[in-house]
This record gives sequence, C-alpha cells and structure tokens, in this order.
Amino acid sequence: MMRAQAAHIAVPGFNIPYLPMMEPVARALCDARCFGLIMVARLEWEKFAAGGVQPVYETYQQVKDERFMRLHLDHVPVIDEDNLPVDYEDILTEAATLGYDSIMVDGSRLSLDDNIAATRRIVDMAHARDVAVEAELGAVMGHESGPMPPYEELFASGQGFTDPDEARRFVSETKVDWLSVAIGSVHGAISETARRAKKPAARLSIERLDALREATGIPLVLHGGTGIPKEYILESVQHGIAKINIATAIRQPYEALMAEDESAALQAVYDATMTVIRDDLELLHSVDILNPGGAQA
Ligand code: 13P
Repeated sequence: MMRAQAAHIAVPGFNIPYLPMMEPVARALCDARCFGLIMVARLEWEKFAAGGVQPVYETYQQVKDERFMRLHLDHVPVIDEDNLPVDYEDILTEAATLGYDSIMVDGSRLSLDDNIAATRRIVDMAHARDVAVEAELGAVMGHESGPMPPYEELFASGQGFTDPDEARRFVSETKVDWLSVAIGSVHGAISETARRAKKPAARLSIERLDALREATGIPLVLHGGTGIPKEYILESVQHGIAKINIATAIRQPYEALMAEDESAALQAVYDATMTVIRDDLELLHSVDILNPGGAQA
C-alpha cells in the first residue's frame, strides 16, 4: 500500500456480499493484471449472504492468485450501523489468526479517545501476527438505516469530515497502517428499502485530503467508491488515496439477475469489475508498476 501511494496508483478493494461473486471478481483482477483486494465486511454476512469469516476464507483459497490479490476483512465495527455493540475483537482475531492479509477495525462511531483505544488493541493483536490494520476516523455515512440529509448539504457543511489534528494524534497513538478518511464520499445504502437505489454522485475535498496526507504520512483509504465522478477519484489518487473500496457497483448488477439467471449474474459481476478497473480507475496492468518484474502471467 505504501508503494501504491508513492506511485500514485490505487489498490481497489471489491466487496463480496454473495460468495459466488468472488470468482468473477478474482478472474477480472487476473485478466486485467490489476493488483486488488477481495474484501468482506461484517454487514455482508449479517445483512447479505457472505456467510462469515471462515466461509469467505475457504472460498478465497479456491479462487486466489496471489500475484494479483490479497484477502481483506473490511468494516468490523465496534458499534454497528444499527447502534448495537459488536464482538469486534473476537471477529478480528479470528480473521488474523486464520490468514486474512489485512483487517479493518471501525471505531468511527466512538469518541476519539475510545476509537484510539479500540484501534490500538487491534493493532497490537494484528501486528503480532504480521497482519496490516485499517481504521476509520470521521464519518463516512450511508450504511445507517435512517434517512440521510441531502448530499449537497452534507458536503457543504463538511459534517463528519476527518479532522487533520485528530488524524495526526490517531495515527501516532495507534500505529495503524492505513486510515479511512471522510472527505465527502458516502457508502451505498444497504437497508432493504434503499439498497437498489442509485447512489448520489459524491464529491471529494482534495484540500482536506492534502491536509490529512500531510498530518498522517500513511496510505489513506477512500470508502464509498461507487458513483464518484472519475475526475475526483483520479485526483484523490494523486493526493494520497492508496486504496478505494467498491461494493455497490458490482453488487447491484448481481442482484438484478441472481434470481432468474445465475450465470448471467456472474458475467455481470465480471463485466462490472472490469469496467471499474479499466474505465473508472484506469488500473489495467497496475501490478506491473507496483511490482515490476514480480508477476509473470
Ligand atoms: P460503495 O458501496 O459506494 O462502493 O462503497 C463500498 C465501501 O466503502 C465498502 O467499505
């Protein structure tokens, strides 16, 4: 991830809410020679059909090609999107012990001090197992079930944006490897009523991103990667974003077809993943830049 940030290249992370989606996503990464992450978040086994830490790990063993991908556990919240406490330490320890390459603890619904304490505990546990840790500071909204304020209002107020001084303290006290920052993006909705809706086109504050990069000095992560106009995404990668999370862009095409035609649904996942890699993020052959001479295919 450090190499990606230095080369101004993003590593895309693709969320897998239904296990059969993993194979076409992995195949697209290989065909595109793009280095990316296969990811699952806790809400994808709670609210979708990803199964859990173990089933995801087992499916990954069948489809993986380590020249082009790693396995990441996305969002394990301390307090979840329904405001309920989560056994986050157990889940994250299970993943780190099983062999996930990186994990994310999400204490963003806590106070700064509590987020630091929770993240610090997970970093100690994970680094002892050589597993990288992502955390979140600020509020990337959209997963909650209640209505969101109009997007333009949110952006104009900067409500929930990550504060650079807090980020400096957070990184130095937790020793976290990558930080998810709130600079204007929102997650795709996941509630039953809203999950099929088109996402609002988010904007990004590049000014805030510059301040956060300066304050933290570590690779920064952009959540809510679906539906952000391309010029913002590409600019953010020039200014410190090293990992971009994509869920809605590949989930909705699968859900639209999965009930009537599984093979068409899987083809739609492959096509959508390719479109993200090739057209939206311009990451064809990124592995050759990240790892020159390393991956031969
Ligand atoms: P999207 O649903 O907007 O692609 O967001 C994905 C994400 O950030 C998962 O952590």
